[in-house]
This record gives sequence, C-alpha cells and structure tokens, in this order.
Amino acid sequence: SKGDYRHYMLKEIFEQPEVIAAALEGRLSDEGVLVESFGPEAVAHFQTLKQIHIVACGTSYHAGLVARYWLERYAGVPVQVEVASEYRYRQVVVPEGTLFVTLSQSGETADTLAALRFAKARGYVGSLAICNVPGSSLVRESDLCLMTRAGPEIGVASTKAFTTQLVALMLLTLAIARAQGGKVDREIITALRGLPKLCQEVLALDSAIENLAQSFAEKHHALFLGRGAHFPIALEGALKLKEISYIHAEAYPAGELKHGPLALVDSEMPVIAVAPNDDLLEKLKSNLQEVRARGGLLYVFADESVGIAEEPEVQVLTLPYVHEALAPLLYTLPLQLLSYHVAVLKGTDVDQPRNLAKSVTVE
Ligand code: F6R
Repeated sequence: SKGDYRHYMLKEIFEQPEVIAAALEGRLSDEGVLVESFGPEAVAHFQTLKQIHIVACGTSYHAGLVARYWLERYAGVPVQVEVASEYRYRQVVVPEGTLFVTLSQSGETADTLAALRFAKARGYVGSLAICNVPGSSLVRESDLCLMTRAGPEIGVASTKAFTTQLVALMLLTLAIARAQGGKVDREIITALRGLPKLCQEVLALDSAIENLAQSFAEKHHALFLGRGAHFPIALEGALKLKEISYIHAEAYPAGELKHGPLALVDSEMPVIAVAPNDDLLEKLKSNLQEVRARGGLLYVFADESVGIAEEPEVQVLTLPYVHEALAPLLYTLPLQLLSYHVAVLKGTDVDQPRNLAKSVTVE
C-alpha cells in the first residue's frame, strides 16, 4: 500500500535510505566487500577477469554507465556498456577473459534476457546478473548474481531500483579490486555505510525541490548537464522528467554543449546541472557560464564547497558533502523528486505514465 504517500513513486523515493541499507547488509567487513556475496564461484571469476561487458535497458543501462567510471577508476578494469536491444544484434567481438554483466530490476526484460542468451554462445568467462527479483529468468540463467534488495517497485518510473543497482555496482567494483589484489579503499567503505543517513538528509530537501519544480511545469523542454560519472545521472534525470511529466528533456555531457545543443539555449530552456565537487567541476562551471551568457535559466545541484552564487536566473540546491565516489548515487535523489513534483503539478498519472509498462517482456 501507499500508506500516507500520494503515489507509489514518492513512497519508493522515500524508501531509499532503508533499501540502500538493506543492499549493504552483510556484504561489508572491515577487510572490504565480501566477494562471496556474488556467489561461491565469484572469487575465481573476479580474480581472473580482464574486462567486463555490461548490458541493460533504460534506467538500468544508466546504472551501467555509472559503473564504467567506477570499475575503470577503482578496479582498473576496462568496461563496455551497451543497451540490450543494440547489443543483441551486433557482431560482438569478445576479448579473452570478459565477464558478461546484466542489470535489471525485473529480471524479465525481453531484450536483456535475449542478450544474455546470445552472450552465452560467445566465449565469455561467465555471467553475472544484478537484479531485484529473486528467481527471475535473468537470475536463473546467470552464473553469478547479486540481489539489489529494493523490495517491490510499483511505480513504473524506476527510483529505488536504480539507486540500489548503483550500490550493488559499487560493491562489484570493490569486490573485483579486492579479488585482484588491490588495496581496500576504506574511505569508500565508510562512505557507503554513511549513505543511508545522507540520503535521509537529501530527502529532507523535498519542499525546496518542490519549489524549484514550480517554474518547470510550464516549460516544454529541459536540458540536463553533467560530466564524468554525473553524465549518466543527467541522462537518468532527463529520462525521469520525460517519462512522468512528458516534458521533452535531453542530457548532454557538459563539454558537448558548444558542439550543438547550445543553439537551443534561451530563457525558455531550463538547464539542470549536476555539479558535485569533483575534478571536473571547474570545467563544468565554465560550461555553465556559456549557458548564463545566453540567458538560460540554471538549476544547479551542488554541495556548499562548489561556491556557485545564487542569482535570479541561477537557483542552487545545496546538498550535503559526500565522498566523490558516491556522489552519483546521492545526486540522483533530488532529480527524482524534481520530476515527481513537476509531474504532480502537471497532473499526469505519475505511477502509470501513458504508453509505458513496468516490465517490458516483449521486444
Ligand atoms: C525507467 C524504467 C525503464 C526500465 C527498463 C529496464 O524509469 O523503469 O527504463 O529501467 O525498462 O527494466 P529492467 O530494469 O526491469 O530490466
């Protein structure tokens, strides 16, 4: 039941502190991530793998895109990520020692399942499913699995399923780094443990985000920008807005602005920037200057240290400080709330957006 919440989506957004804690439960020790969490054969697989192919659809694909940055940076493993509907029809070349990873809330998405079956005939060293539904087809047909433990997700727009996938993917990153003899990143482990509380703090910004949403409801387009691991978060923010509020939204890596999309920017185009304090911040800031110079309205999600001054055309939503590695996870929440409130203002069917189904079991 929805309890006191107006929609399942809102309830599920607010469940994130709890389900993220569940996704971590029993999977961490002081020595790092417990590699066996992925199955008894995981240690052998993780020790020897040389690269990873990740395949998924929609929101789950966005989680895969974040994981690429993590696996390369923290585990030194080369990664390719692709949408299942493209992957399954390609003449894929599989380098020796490649692990095949699928991501899926339902575990029944037709294209993702077909991609797994296709991959099995192509010389991968093994397959891993990161999934929210125990006993689903994807889980049954994969060699290894890690359940995301988000609990049932009723809202068609995926929220808690996505953030728990990100938790699972950070665990995968640390597990592979550990199995391959890397040193334990204790700071990230500590940060993971603190994540449920930080999510709670972000959810407390709900009414500030609801205020921001007011000025969106009349707009017809929106542009989401991020760099690095926050580019996929911008993609996810844009997808959520499209799905439930029917506002046309696009996401770009901020460095691509001047290669085309800047032509669209005027005072009718809200630009949402995911701007945590990381190595790419200074570059992102100069991209935002380009938007300002064209009269674009900016909505910036950043922490205090970022130092972007509020002006009439620049609204800043300040988030708590978070370890850089986990910022993609935390910065997802305000974007979920933003699209939720815009959709409510527009009066759409938030939990059952038009033309969409929760589980896409046909091609
Ligand atoms: C978006 C959304 C979809 C799903 C996609 C894959 O909010 O829910 O894009 O992410 O259909 O579904 P799963 O993860 O069940 O394979």
